[in-house]
Amino acid sequence: MNVLLTGGAGYIGSHTAVTLINAGINIVIADNFSNSSPKVLDRIAEITGKRPEFVEVDFCDKAATDALFESHSFDGVIHFAGLKAVGESCRQPIRYYRNNLDSTLTLLEAMAKYNVKRLVFSSSATVYGDQPAPLTESTPTGNCSNPYGWTKYMIEQILKGACDADPELSVVLLRYFNPLGAHESGKIGENPNGIPNNLMPYISQVAVGKLEKLHIFGNDYDTPDGTGVRDYIHVVDLAQGHLDALHYAEKRTGCDVFNLGTGKGYSVLDMVKTFSRVNGVEVPYVIDPRRPGDLATVYADPKKAETVLGWTAKRNLEDMCRDSWNWQSHNPQGY
Ligand code: WQD
Repeated sequence: MNVLLTGGAGYIGSHTAVTLINAGINIVIADNFSNSSPKVLDRIAEITGKRPEFVEVDFCDKAATDALFESHSFDGVIHFAGLKAVGESCRQPIRYYRNNLDSTLTLLEAMAKYNVKRLVFSSSATVYGDQPAPLTESTPTGNCSNPYGWTKYMIEQILKGACDADPELSVVLLRYFNPLGAHESGKIGENPNGIPNNLMPYISQVAVGKLEKLHIFGNDYDTPDGTGVRDYIHVVDLAQGHLDALHYAEKRTGCDVFNLGTGKGYSVLDMVKTFSRVNGVEVPYVIDPRRPGDLATVYADPKKAETVLGWTAKRNLEDMCRDSWNWQSHNPQGY
């Protein structure tokens, strides 16, 4: 099988690349390095012993996208490419709509032109917005709290419509909860540009001394310890979910959707305490006011992925904390 990973040099894309290569699948990574580093390709080669083919492509560029499909014969696509910072999307909504929607529409046009009929899409639990947990795939969507989430919601509608129009098309939507952690080698990991928005990279940069202290956004939520509760999922478990989704897409047509989460919720303080205990490092913090748009409690009901894909998350919070620290402590400045 020959699979294109758009945005495959990114955090989740690179971990999925390792999983697919190790499963004997031939991959091509296409990325514009807007939020990733070329060094990832060397690290993937160090881990797997195989350097994936790479093509620098911005999927908003129709000519470059067509040239990529013209010069390759893909059996399927995993579409990671897109802007993904929630806060940034609130400050730059037009840029997010333009980039995330344009790149997806250009990709879909090329897939149709070159008869590529299988797609796994990197969606997000943000499409649910403020809904009571646990979230199932039939929990209502479209109550998004930010433009980033709206782009994921809109792309899901585009893909459902594409499947309605083309009975040969097979699309799997994967709604990620909170990805974190890193490959056990510590050679690839989460490498956000600038000050991290997400909790774990912020904690690990405090632990490594790059940042002074963690700012916990609110401890007055209706949760066991007052801090936000989320469904954290190890990025290597998430990568496996993409391989399972690819095999599932091969056997069927139409559009299907899966939550990729653990079904367990952990608070911010749970994370801080576990990270410190597992790694023997201090994480100084202060309690700040709530962050606008944050929800109190978000976690998945992962039953459908378990029964239909045969996928469950295998790694626990300690594994996530250990692997995040292994990456950060070996790469204090990132790639
Ligand atoms: C987790 C918890 C914060 C940072 C976002 C996106 C989602 C997905 C994952 C892409 C919350 C608290 C955080 C900090 C804190 N990304 N926190 N101090 O907001 O649940 O989800 O990332 O798909 O789409 O929405 O993740 O890691 O930002 O926050 O206290 O410096 O940690 O309040 O309770 P979030 P997060």
